[in-house]
Amino acid sequence: MLKSVALLAALFLTIQAANYCMKEKELSENEFFDQVQGKTFANQQNRVVAIECPDPKDNSTCLYIVDRIGYLKDGSWFVGRFLTPVPNLTKGFLSVSKLVKPVFKSMSTIDTAMWMVDVGTMDAMTPNSVELSSLFTTGHFEMNRDVSGNITFLGVATGGLMSFFSTYFKNLKLTGIDIDPQSEYLAKKWFGYRDTKNSKILIGDGAEYIMEMAKRGETSDAVLVDACHNHAPPDGIYCPVEAVRTPEFLKSLSAVIGTKGITTYNMYILHRDHQKGYQKIRNEFAKYFAECHLGSNHLGNAFIMCSNNKIDQSTVDISSVRSFLKNMRIDGFLKNLL
Ligand SMILES: *[C@@H]1O[C@H](CO)[C@@H](O)[C@H](O)[C@H]1NC(C)=O
Ligand SMILES: *[C@@H]1O[C@H](CO)[C@@H](O)[C@H](O)[C@H]1NC(C)=O
Ligand SMILES: *[C@@H]1O[C@H](CO)[C@@H](O)[C@H](O)[C@H]1NC(C)=O
Repeated sequence: MLKSVALLAALFLTIQAANYCMKEKELSENEFFDQVQGKTFANQQNRVVAIECPDPKDNSTCLYIVDRIGYLKDGSWFVGRFLTPVPNLTKGFLSVSKLVKPVFKSMSTIDTAMWMVDVGTMDAMTPNSVELSSLFTTGHFEMNRDVSGNITFLGVATGGLMSFFSTYFKNLKLTGIDIDPQSEYLAKKWFGYRDTKNSKILIGDGAEYIMEMAKRGETSDAVLVDACHNHAPPDGIYCPVEAVRTPEFLKSLSAVIGTKGITTYNMYILHRDHQKGYQKIRNEFAKYFAECHLGSNHLGNAFIMCSNNKIDQSTVDISSVRSFLKNMRIDGFLKNLL
């Protein structure tokens, strides 16, 4: 009896919702833009959607969810979402995603806080894209979305890279480990990450996790390290954090990638001698792997790729890697947001 009452109530609500939708006036693209720009963004380019403070007693731990309108030369527009330590993006950002514009444009869909995140696109300049690209430009993975294997992520940030991989690579098993439970919370609440059969986030110490894997003799085809401080550390080394730079850790990591795997680190150092800093980290790492390469993007990050077999980039056709990446919608939306 109770069940059918619930069913009836559900049916009633559905009818109500459908009615409501039918009554709502659909806005034209221009009307919709005017409302989003004028009402939702109060005629600014940015808006703070939420302030997330993991420790309410310590406001220096707060991070801001900031939505920002990107304007294109052809008159079109989109909305990007940042995670940043200050509300106005003057201190850079920890992550950026593009949002999906609602299909039904109306007054009830002008609030970008309710929009979905487009997890199937990334900007080519972001550390996430560089880490993903590194697996293909090095010839490590074949350019094939059916490729099987597994990837371990140390530091999941807002889950953007894991979401992207699970959108396009159904046969890769993805495991993310993050020491900060806030990361998983932000990933799920604001950045569209969902666990799937092949994609899981674990909360814990990633350095320990890799050392345990090494003890058990387990391997991973790729270990992508994006382990950063959210706020300025005294030595200016935002990433990688100390725990993933120790000799014990690097020895274990080398064992875990074995002779077939690869590891890529995202690095970010904010001080005058950052180039020297990157070089120093590379030289340190090179003691534990057969080889390590240094690369960079245009946002000030550097990357180390290490493996225990010779990376032979001469066999890789870079232009076909480019189109492979472009087909997965790795593009350049960020320039329209900054
Ligand atoms: C911390 O920030 C919140 C939200 O901005 C504010 O309401 C609160 O008063 C602040 N607390 C302290 C201790 O500054
Ligand atoms: C950006 O925000 C910071 C911290 O809230 C503030 O000190 C600074 O003046 C702001 N800068 C601009 C250009 O608005
Ligand atoms: C990852 O995949 C490789 C083969 O691609 C396999 O040897 C290894 O055991 C897998 N590791 C885990 C933790 O599943």
